[in-house]
Amino acid sequence: MKVLNFGSLNVDYVYQVDHIIMPGETQSSSQRNVFAGGKGLNQSVALVKAGLPTYHAGQVGNDADGEMLLQVLREHGVDTSLVNKVDGLCGHTIIQLDKYAQNSIILFGGANRCISEAYREEVFSHFGKDDVVVLQNEVNDLDKIIDKAYEKGMKIVLNPSPFDSYLDGCDWGKVDIFFINEVEGAQISGKESKEEILDWFKAHYPDALVVLTLGSAGSCCLKNNKVYDQDIIPVETVDTTAAGDTFTGFFLSAYLGGKTIPEALKLAARASAIAVSRSGAANSIPTLSELKNE
Ligand code: RIB
Repeated sequence: MKVLNFGSLNVDYVYQVDHIIMPGETQSSSQRNVFAGGKGLNQSVALVKAGLPTYHAGQVGNDADGEMLLQVLREHGVDTSLVNKVDGLCGHTIIQLDKYAQNSIILFGGANRCISEAYREEVFSHFGKDDVVVLQNEVNDLDKIIDKAYEKGMKIVLNPSPFDSYLDGCDWGKVDIFFINEVEGAQISGKESKEEILDWFKAHYPDALVVLTLGSAGSCCLKNNKVYDQDIIPVETVDTTAAGDTFTGFFLSAYLGGKTIPEALKLAARASAIAVSRSGAANSIPTLSELKNE
């Protein structure tokens, strides 16, 4: 089984602010940090740090930022042989991080949103039945990527984040595993409570495995009508960026590696607790050995 993560690579510009800025307001930031991020890159790093060899596919600009993002993937042992360099800017974000560790993100797609049909075909020519593809919603033509993976017989994992109109046209009936947070769960289903959100998924995608993260209320997993719950591991939160990506990578690595759902949920909760206690995105993700030493 080969694992392909076809997703975004971003430079995250993180500004420490007192509060998330109001319309018309100007506010001085006390600190700026630059991190490697992007839901795709973060999830590839998390998968590999959790012990699952992963190929990353996606695009960076042909500049120093692009080289930096590739270097971060390589340093963490992600296979970058399929990453494409294109003319133009890398994807980037402007992240406000307030004194309560809440964030607010502006996303610029850049190279992530210039994926061509030829590149997509080339990437998928290396994969087939029994392989797994991991997807988020920060690259263009996600609908066609899902269709191609399905045509190839791959297991499809989707984290439909950010939840926006770029998801229109995606056939979620082809997805095997969903990773959703509580905000997206409410947006997708139009429901508020965990039970109602899970009921919505049961009704619409009865064969899918659904992992729902619920912030301070923990997480849960729905499989074959059975719900498994996991509490959070309490820590002092510094920065929640990439916490969901860490959860996804560690859950998937454990689950695909044969662990039970309760074991996978627990490992993911422990890993994301460490990630929120540190600043940054990919760099905040722990290794498996850090978890073993806890
Ligand atoms: O999930 C966190 C990521 O979302 C950040 O690293 C940022 O790049 C945004 O894409």
